[in-house]
Amino acid sequence: MKILVIIPAAGSGTRFGGELPKQFQQLGGKPVIQRVIERFLFHEDVVRVVVAVSEQLLASVAQAPGDRVRFVRGGDTRQQSVTLAFRSVEEEFDIVAVHDAVRPFFADATFRAAIDEAVATGAALPAISMTDTVHTVRGDLLDLTLDRSTLVAAQTPQCFTQKVLREVLDRAEREGEQGTDEAGLAARYGFPVKVVAGDSINFKITRADDLALAETILARWS
Ligand code: C5P
Repeated sequence: MKILVIIPAAGSGTRFGGELPKQFQQLGGKPVIQRVIERFLFHEDVVRVVVAVSEQLLASVAQAPGDRVRFVRGGDTRQQSVTLAFRSVEEEFDIVAVHDAVRPFFADATFRAAIDEAVATGAALPAISMTDTVHTVRGDLLDLTLDRSTLVAAQTPQCFTQKVLREVLDRAEREGEQGTDEAGLAARYGFPVKVVAGDSINFKITRADDLALAETILARWS
C-alpha cells in the first residue's frame, strides 16, 4: 500500500494570539508540526508527506532530494493549500490522507480504520458525536437549535483514493467553492464518505489555552 499524507500548515493561526502560528509552537520540546510529521513517518506505508507552509517559512526549510517529507507553498485558504500540495506530486498512490497540522494526537487505530474504509468506499473521515447542544446565532441572539443526534464533529486524518480527492479538489476549484474539510466537499459532490470512530483526544490546537491542555495530554499519552 502506498500512502501520501498532505498536511496543510500554512494557516496564520490568528485565533491563537501571539506571533507564531499554533502548528509551530513547542509541545513537549518539539514544534507541533514536527510531532505530527513524525507520527506519520512511523507508518511504513506512508511513502510521502507533503506539508504546505507559508511562503516565508518555505524559504527557511532545508529540503533534501529523496526525503519522505517535502515542503511546498500553501495558499490563501486551507483548501488551496491542500490542492497545491496534492498537485505537487506526480506519483500514483493508493490512498491520500489529509491531516490538520494542529492535531498531534490522532490514534494509529483511527488512521488505519480511515485507510481501510477509504479503500472500500473511496473516502472516510474520523468524527465524534456532539456532546454540546449546537445553536445557530444571529449576532448575539440565539436563532435555531440543531438536532444534535444528526451532528458529528469532523476530525482528521481524512482518507481518500487519489482519484476521488483529485475529482473533489478539481471540482471545488472549478466551482469556486471553499470547504473547511475535504470530506464535506466529497459528500456534497455525491461521493459516499464513511464515518469512522474518532477520539476526543484528537482535538485541534486552536486557542491559546489549548496548548496547555495538549502538554497535559502529551505527558499522559506517550
Ligand atoms: O483554519 P483551520 O483551523 O481550519 O485550519 C486547519 C489547517 O489548515 C491548519 O493546519 C492550518 O495551518 C491549515 N491552513 C493552511 N492554509 C491556509 C489556512 C489554513 O494550510 N491558508
